[in-house]
Amino acid sequence: MKKNKKSKEWINKQRRDIYVRKSKQEGYRSRAVYKLQEINNKYKIVKNGSLIVDLGAAPGSWSQFVIENFKNCKLLSIDLKKMEPIGNSYQIIGDFNEENSKEQIINYFKEKVDLVMSDMAVNTTGNKNLDSVVTGELSLEALRFSKDQLKPNGIFVSKIFMGSTFNEIVGEAKLTFKEINIFKPPSSRKESKESFIICKKLR
Ligand SMILES: C[S@@+](CC[C@H](N)C(=O)[O-])C[C@H]1O[C@@H](n2cnc3c(N)ncnc32)[C@H](O)[C@@H]1O
Repeated sequence: MKKNKKSKEWINKQRRDIYVRKSKQEGYRSRAVYKLQEINNKYKIVKNGSLIVDLGAAPGSWSQFVIENFKNCKLLSIDLKKMEPIGNSYQIIGDFNEENSKEQIINYFKEKVDLVMSDMAVNTTGNKNLDSVVTGELSLEALRFSKDQLKPNGIFVSKIFMGSTFNEIVGEAKLTFKEINIFKPPSSRKESKESFIICKKLR
């Protein structure tokens, strides 16, 4: 399909999407906020006063959700892209895969954190298998970071795609955490292979 036709289809789909309209009305930067809201309604992952790392945070609706609905959270948001400021959260523009970014996160908190949440995804190439493999690698990287940086009762949440890396991530998560759930929020587009893994209690 030609690029122009594809982007027109994307614009039309966005116009029809109730979550896009709702996010505009409610002042959120992205429809992605409803995925976090639905995850939180079911699994209670965010609490007042939590120390939270938001990986792949731009344009920032997950971070907005935390700052606008919970008191006294210490939040660090990182993305390759620049974001508009969000309350008193701390932002890093950088690649999470780089050691320097991880060091900056660790130095910011100087203690273990309550929640690592990752909505990181690569820019789609059009090749769904390739996209899911590369996004799977990001999720594994986030899982390994969480293993070292979470408090014993800490929580790890990450976007994962049904695909070749799915079993590897779930397998490694089971070795790392005692409670694992896979959840596709109702606001996640049906045609998307995306789900979320919610992991609680480090082993
Ligand atoms: C689906 S968007 C996140 C939406 C966000 N949760 C929100 O609510 O606004 C995925 C983000 O992951 C980011 N990303 C992809 N690879 C990354 C990496 N290696 N390091 C940091 N961010 C990355 C992309 O730049 C993109 O902004």
